Parts: sequence; C-alpha cells; structure tokens
Amino acid sequence: MSVIVVVGGQWGDEGKGKVVDLLAERARIVLRSQGGNNAGHTVVVDGRTFKFNLIPSGILHPRTICVIGNGVVLDPKVLLAEVDQLEQAGADLGNLVISERAHMIMPYHPVLDRLEEAARGDDRLGTTFRGVGPAYSDKVRRIGFRVGDLQKLRFLEKKLDFVLPLKNDILVKLYQAPPFTRDEILAEYTNFASRLERFIRDPFPLVQTAVGAGERVILEGAQGTMLDLDLGTYPYVTSSYPSSGGALAGAGLGPRHVTTTLGVFKAYTTRVGYGPFPTELDDSLGEYLRERGSEYGTTTGRPRRVGWFDAAVARYAVGVNGIDSIALTKLDVLDELEVVRICTGYSSKGKAEDHPMANISHLKHVEPQFEELPGWRQSTKDARQFEDLPEAARRYVERLGELAGAPVDLISVGPGREETIRRRANW
Ligand code: IMP
Repeated sequence: MSVIVVVGGQWGDEGKGKVVDLLAERARIVLRSQGGNNAGHTVVVDGRTFKFNLIPSGILHPRTICVIGNGVVLDPKVLLAEVDQLEQAGADLGNLVISERAHMIMPYHPVLDRLEEAARGDDRLGTTFRGVGPAYSDKVRRIGFRVGDLQKLRFLEKKLDFVLPLKNDILVKLYQAPPFTRDEILAEYTNFASRLERFIRDPFPLVQTAVGAGERVILEGAQGTMLDLDLGTYPYVTSSYPSSGGALAGAGLGPRHVTTTLGVFKAYTTRVGYGPFPTELDDSLGEYLRERGSEYGTTTGRPRRVGWFDAAVARYAVGVNGIDSIALTKLDVLDELEVVRICTGYSSKGKAEDHPMANISHLKHVEPQFEELPGWRQSTKDARQFEDLPEAARRYVERLGELAGAPVDLISVGPGREETIRRRANW
C-alpha cells in the first residue's frame, strides 16, 4: 500500500504541481481531492510549459490514471478548455476520470462571487472570482449540481427549476443584476454532458483496487493549509479543506490507507489575496523575490505577496496535517541573498506564540521573531545531490526541517523535472 498525500504547507502556490509530477512517474493514480479552478499549477517537461487549473499533474505520464475527485468543484467550461489544449498538444486523455460526486460551478456562481466580494467593500477576501465559494456554499446547502447530474438531464432540469429562481431572486432583488435564463443554462449543460460523458465515472472501485494491490496512489492537494476553511486564517481562506483530512474525504480514503503525508513548502513564503501574513516583505527585497521567483498567480496573474519562511506556520502545518516528509521548492530563488531569515515564532502583546493563532486580528499584529543565517551567494541550480549544495544552503535547509519538525526529503532548485535533489530512496 502506498498512498501519498501531498499537501501545501503555506498559503498555496508552493509548487505542488512539480512535486506531484515527479512522484507520478511511479504512480498508478493521481487524484485531485478538493478545490476548483481557483488553483493553478505549472509543469515543465522538456522545456515545454503546461498550465493546468483542474486536470491533475500526472496527466503527462501515459500510464497514470488521473482522477478529479469527489471534493472538487469544477467549471465544465474550464475543464473542456484544458482537455482541448492537452489533446491539441498530443496528450492521451484516455486515463482521465471525473468523479460523479464532484460538484459543478454553475454560470451564476462566478457572478455571485464578484458581487459578494464587492459588497464586502474593505473587508473583501481577494477571491479568484471563479465562483468556488458560492459553489461550495450551494453544496453545503444541498442545492448544488454534481457532475453525475449530467448523466440524468431530466433530473438536472427539475433541480434547475427549483434552484434558478432562488439565484435569480438574489441577483435581481439584492444586487440589481441581470437574471440567468433557464433554457440557456440547460442548453449549455446538455452540451457539456455530451462532451464530458467519456470521463465521468465512479472512482471508488479504481481507487480501492489500486490501494488494495499496493500500487502508488497520490492525492494531489490544491491551495494550502493556511487557506483551509477550518485550519487557516478564516475568513481569509478558500471554501474547501486543503489539509490532509480534507484530502482523504475528497478522495474517499481513510487514515489507515496513508503511508506518507508530504508537505510542500516554498523556501520563502507567498500569499495571494488579503489576510494576515506575519513575515511579509513590503519592500524592495520583497519586490526582488517576486520578480526572481516569478511570483504572479497562475490563475489570475495577480502579483503574489512575498515574505520570509515562517517556521511557525510550517510547524503548525506539520502538526495539523501529520506531515512526515517535506518537499522544499524554489531554493534557487534565494541564491543571491547575503543573508536569509527564518521566522521562528511570534511575539503577540508581549507573549510568545509558536504557531499562528486563530484570532486573526491578533495574528495581523504579531511581531515575527527572526533567526538570521548567512546566504550562499552561489547558484544551486545544478545541484542534484544534497552534498552538491553550498554549505550555507545545506544549513538553511536543515534548520527549516528542524524548526518545522519533519525531514526535508526533496529539494527543488528550478522548474524542470531534473532540477531536483531527492534524498529519499524511490523518490
Ligand atoms: P477562492 O478560493 O477563489 O474563494 O479565494 C479565497 C482565497 O484563497 C483568496 O485569497 C485566493 O487568493 C486564495 N486562493 C484560492 N486558490 C488559491 C491557489 O490555488 N493558490 C493560492 N491562493 C489561492
């Protein structure tokens, strides 16, 4: 049995796509467990760059089954655009499976996302406007549309007759926005039904068979622990559960099945959207790291906020997810710095705190406590073994692992597959 849960340890954009792509070489199944097309990942193969919002990173490995799992909300339009892009590039999508239980983003969801954000004014969250929050809200209210509904169009029609008037009431009466037309939605989703039919299946037997046969199954996380609806910096979070617990529910597996929980962390920190960010660098160094690390959102193109590595966040992520192995990405972005800093904890109103607190108005005002280490001022891009790294870089990596509480088993020093240091056998 070999189920690897890959979770983001920070605020998303840690580089999970590349890590999953590497592990997928030996995987039978890569399963995207939650989130929607608010996420984005970039995979570079032989110098060619692929950008996905929904399709799991393993799709470029011909033998790997890629599942869009139960916990995902997907916009069929976005999914079909990815399907087209990949098929035009010559990829074989015979191994793509979409769970009947995944939910769909309906045309009114992105519109409501925008209107709700505008209504929040200064307290807006900075969502991706993809309709993810409204779609998850409808799932919880039990008025959501599941992918499986595309196989029962009469049922979908009946549900639409009940749900659409509720939505149009909100649009028209509350926001003075134009309503949606029943027949247009029906026509559009009937077309999606015929185009997506070949991918829709119940992943349960596939996943259980692979796990039972001891084959590698990877649960690909989206977003990160600090964006988790329960564990993150609420309300500045996404509407799903990017933590390992959420991954299991989204995949349909239990804790007993998990062999490794791999936390992916960037060698510094980034965040998009609003909300507390204790180690944020609001200066020219932050600007430098943003440019050097190309820190612009894959989905929205927004500039990411940038800061030092926060070991208080990392320690928290290791604890709440049960992370037992760390993949550290983008170490090379720090190559030219004279000194590097790590936040070891916070001071909040004179009190020491070793992890991010639930009270975000306190978290917003903490003073991060930093440890300073010498930089290495040397390129790490060609390192393939841990010993190839300059001594100061090795010390930085080891110190991060020590403070976080888990070993750093994989280090990425560039976007390409080969620009990786693997410190664990079979990885
Ligand atoms: P939503 O998920 O679009 O509702 O956005 C809620 C918050 O999560 C915003 O701060 C987004 O920027 C953030 N977010 C959502 N998806 C991602 C992601 O894949 N990477 C980083 N941030 C994300």
